[in-house]
Amino acid sequence: MIKQFPQDFLWGGATAANQFEGAWNVDGRGPATSDTARAVAPEERKTMGSEFSSPMTREKLEYALNDKKGLYPKRWGSDFYHRYKEDIALYAEMGFKTFRLSIAWSRIFPKGDEKEANEAGLAFYDKVFDELNKYGIEPLVTLSHYEFPIHLVTAYGGWKNRKVIDFFVHYAETVFKRYKDKVKYWLTFNEINIIGMTGYLSGGLLFEDGKLNLQEMYQAAHHQFVASALATKAGHEINPDFKIGCMLARMQAYPATCNPDDVMEEVRKDHENLFFSDVQVRGKYPSYAKRFFKENGIELEIADDDLEILQDYPVDFMSFSYYMSSLARKKKSDEETAGNLILSEPNPYLQASDWGWQIDPVGLRITLNKLYDRYQIPLMVVENGLGALDKLEEDGSVHDQYRIDYLKSHVEQMYEAIEDGVDLIGYTWWGCTDLVSASTSEMSKRYGFVYVDADDQGQGTFNRSRKDSFFYYKNLIATNGASVLND
Ligand code: BG6
Repeated sequence: MIKQFPQDFLWGGATAANQFEGAWNVDGRGPATSDTARAVAPEERKTMGSEFSSPMTREKLEYALNDKKGLYPKRWGSDFYHRYKEDIALYAEMGFKTFRLSIAWSRIFPKGDEKEANEAGLAFYDKVFDELNKYGIEPLVTLSHYEFPIHLVTAYGGWKNRKVIDFFVHYAETVFKRYKDKVKYWLTFNEINIIGMTGYLSGGLLFEDGKLNLQEMYQAAHHQFVASALATKAGHEINPDFKIGCMLARMQAYPATCNPDDVMEEVRKDHENLFFSDVQVRGKYPSYAKRFFKENGIELEIADDDLEILQDYPVDFMSFSYYMSSLARKKKSDEETAGNLILSEPNPYLQASDWGWQIDPVGLRITLNKLYDRYQIPLMVVENGLGALDKLEEDGSVHDQYRIDYLKSHVEQMYEAIEDGVDLIGYTWWGCTDLVSASTSEMSKRYGFVYVDADDQGQGTFNRSRKDSFFYYKNLIATNGASVLND
């Protein structure tokens, strides 16, 4: 029997406006939090991007917006704004069934709180969706991916302010109505659980005392939950065929030993991570949240209808990012390695990427099983990939066998998970075209099947070329996985 994926499996790639589009001040787009993310020097890489996770203050924000000398690579990204036709043609050549992108909120509402939308911003995404449609590629659209209009930070204090719910829902309704016949799959908030680290970037939170304020963080998350549920309600009213999902940064952890204390630490870590999808999928706060809130002095302000709204409008499907796994140990170890958004001690059974992320394909199968056991709704892997240093050959090729190996091993494990009974509906490789890193704002941390000729300083032609992995993925999609699973 030939092994293959289900017939309508959605193969594709994923990007985000803040890292890919560039054109940060073009056609009326307003400034967003991502525009103030400074590039991180290579020696800071393994401790995560400082601008990504460090508390942002009003002073630093003002400085960044007026800074003429610093490097802010997300402002130019990979110039998808001007090269979308060429990029989409390359996705069509690879045979993509879907393409994940995000809409930049401040392109549609430059300040975030306007009544009238910016027509030039809306028209841009019309052109992008029409181009995708031309090739039969289904768009998968994130409404909020690591950027947030700056005006909503300075005038309202970000997501801790309840008023932002209305602004977001107005934004969501505007794009739902405009693109109701062009887009079917939507995600509300990218990696909603990462608000603890990206409090400023995605939550618009300023931490004046330099510390993460748990009360504000969970209040902001509560407002995002309600906003997401209200957007889901509105979306279904506008087009009942819409499929609206949540998006979690999945942190798969293993107990470091069989010491029950370490096993309990893994349970605790899972609670910390799955708290967010528990609310969005099950429509209510999980039982373990009560103790956590009490012990951390968190008292949420919950308006009268909020809990009903969460209950009545859960998501249609669950999506998540998966790059790596980590270890859970009650007593902390001194040795830690980097990872997407977390530090973990190294797992002796795993290899790590150039950036210290521990590569664990079996962990993806474990996670898929775990999530499906828990939620029993369709799942989609909307980010997975390898950030690596690539070498461009003179003829424009890149021999990225390491990326091919990463892809192959993860695809094999997804197949196993489907065989295990998991309802997995799609897979979008992160950064299918090279783009600016979210955490470090480097260009040299490349994920793409398509190379972009630009360096960390934004120098280069920005021309695109095909890496070896481009042809590998093309063949994989053409055979619906058979080329990988039966070789
Ligand atoms: C995810 C984000 O956390 O990881 C993406 O949703 C991000 O925006 C991706 O780019 C990879 O992380 P990084 O820091 O290597 O770009």
